[in-house]
Amino acid sequence: MDLIIRNAKLTDREELMDIAIKDGRFRMIKREIDFKGSQEIDAKGYLVLPPFVESHVHLDSALTAGVPRFNQSGTLLEGIQLWSEYKETSTKEDIKEKAKKAVHWLIANGVLHIRAHTDCSVPSLMTIQAILELKEELQEYVDIQVVAFPQDGIYAHDGMEKLLVAAIEQGADVIGGMPQAELTREDGIRALEYIFNLAQKHDLPVDIHTDETGDNHSRFLEVITKYTIKGEMSGKVTASHTTALHNYNNDYAAKVIQNVKRAGINIVTNPFSNSLLQNRLDGYPRSRGHTRIDELLQAGVNISIGNDNIMDPFNPLGKGSLLQAAHLLMHTAHLSGEEEINRLFDFITHNGAKTLGIENNYGINENKQADFIILQAWDKKDALRRSADCLYVIRKGKIIFQKEPSEGRLMIEDEELKVDFT
Ligand code: FE2
Repeated sequence: MDLIIRNAKLTDREELMDIAIKDGRFRMIKREIDFKGSQEIDAKGYLVLPPFVESHVHLDSALTAGVPRFNQSGTLLEGIQLWSEYKETSTKEDIKEKAKKAVHWLIANGVLHIRAHTDCSVPSLMTIQAILELKEELQEYVDIQVVAFPQDGIYAHDGMEKLLVAAIEQGADVIGGMPQAELTREDGIRALEYIFNLAQKHDLPVDIHTDETGDNHSRFLEVITKYTIKGEMSGKVTASHTTALHNYNNDYAAKVIQNVKRAGINIVTNPFSNSLLQNRLDGYPRSRGHTRIDELLQAGVNISIGNDNIMDPFNPLGKGSLLQAAHLLMHTAHLSGEEEINRLFDFITHNGAKTLGIENNYGINENKQADFIILQAWDKKDALRRSADCLYVIRKGKIIFQKEPSEGRLMIEDEELKVDFT
């Protein structure tokens, strides 16, 4: 065997396990493997997981915060304005370099699968080209799905349909959308019809920035349920954000959630940007911004989490940590029940894999590709509580990131005490 992991804490077994890997695949998972590997890692009882799945991030705008200036109001609208200014003066090389650094951060945080919403409204399509090139260059290390994202809508400005089609022809993996950016609701519906027709024609999945507003009249999620059901696209459609759903009246929300389940639509919530950007005009009381997580969960809808923005005009903070994002959502979505914490963990692992349509090849099972991480944590709750560091990230059986366990020393009362927050 090329690599053997000893004393691994897997989430579905009580006892510590050994894992043997050969030719980039898991070959054996059992209590004690009685032969040696060419390389061995003692996991020391730490949590061994399949890699985190980043369901929604904008790599093209990542690490651009402060250029041309910082977002002073903190609003989504000023963020969009700043990003417009940025992309007019930036270059493909600049965007690619920053995006690459953001991907390095994501990998160091245990992410090996990324869905990257990428603005395709720049006439040169240099943003799409930058991320497509990055995807190819890094394919040995990380999987990137590129979403052709018409940031400014399709009909609100001239020429956007052609750019969306061109982005697909250049190799985008997923078709994005932004119906609430259109001038009228009717144009938003027309834009969705256009997107779903394109998806059928090219046999591609769809991932729409859906009702990303506090406006309870923004009701494109119901339109997406219709096109998904009519087009028989169950499992291939994702509605990202759906923050307006938070503010709908309860009867209408119940109807929409039922149809989201019926349609087999994935929901992606983005705890950082949703809590930061939504409901700023509420006054008080102020709604929390994110979608109806608990009701969607109860209905059996697949929910996953994205970082959305990493140091860009929409969020000046962020380091690409999905554990931090899940930690925030636990608080804002009231998910602190014992079983809810476990389900929250699924949002950044298995549910994310379902959103990206990669669930059949995902997980720690014999003969699957040996992609996994070792966290400095004893269990899921501990990992969330401490925003645990990744000690190892392993891709196709090879170590691509490593970090020593962190531990501090407290020197008080004539004693030296170890502090690791356990
Ligand atoms: Fe987004």
